[in-house]
Amino acid sequence: MKTQPLDGAFGAQVLDVNLADAADEAFAKDLRELLLRERLLVFRGQHLDARSLRDVGRCLGTLDVHPFIESVEGVPEVVAIVKEAEEKRNFGGAWHSEVSFYEQPAMGTMLYAVETPDEGGDTLLADGVRAYDALPEETKARIANLKAIHSAAHVYGEGGYYQDRATGAAAGTKTRDMEAAQGRVAHPIVRTHPETGEKILYVNLAFTVGIEGMADDQARPFLNELIRHATDEAFVTRLRWEPGTLAMWDNRSTQHNALNDYTGQRREMLRVVIEGDRPI
Ligand SMILES: [Fe+2]
Repeated sequence: MKTQPLDGAFGAQVLDVNLADAADEAFAKDLRELLLRERLLVFRGQHLDARSLRDVGRCLGTLDVHPFIESVEGVPEVVAIVKEAEEKRNFGGAWHSEVSFYEQPAMGTMLYAVETPDEGGDTLLADGVRAYDALPEETKARIANLKAIHSAAHVYGEGGYYQDRATGAAAGTKTRDMEAAQGRVAHPIVRTHPETGEKILYVNLAFTVGIEGMADDQARPFLNELIRHATDEAFVTRLRWEPGTLAMWDNRSTQHNALNDYTGQRREMLRVVIEGDRPI
């Protein structure tokens, strides 16, 4: 696969692949190797629908069926992420890695742009490997054996940010099973990549809510500092979408933030999430 680096801190654009007819075993192997190296891959000018996106997604593993978001009819692995022109709130509009509140968070995500605003709606992605590497040695020592608490209760749970979506109050991305979002899970703050062995700073603004064994008044400021560092501009790539853009990222070593700066314009994306394993 021919690639060129993206503008920004990390990631590559793949230049010579038509994904709609690429999904075979040899491609899957090359794709995984490239994704492990770059952590973020972008393919422009693609022609996918829910079914072909699912087939491309399967090149990386088993696809997740999201517990709180309704899927595209007939293709349970694919979710449509839609923001209607009249909606104010967007989906994924805070730094996060996908479902880090799971015991086994996602391995990766593929997002395909169907309809995009003329301007705005970019996605920011941050490289957790570089963020870890750039930490001062004393911070690395301090967090080496700490675990952080992850939860989606404040986002998907009762009274949470997306709750009205479940009742049909908004027309866009639909969420369901709000009760199931109340769990809490502990993951290492320094995660070791299961395939590359790299160390990753694994905390995020949306779902990391505390540090195991540490009082909140102590944990919160420290977490805020780590989270701010993790998304420092030095580790960030800004991804501009156009219809036909497919992006995929390694969800273990990156986090992302969907910017909400296109009020009055519609945006429609299709998403698949690949199942991952328990962070170590
Ligand atoms: Fe996301």
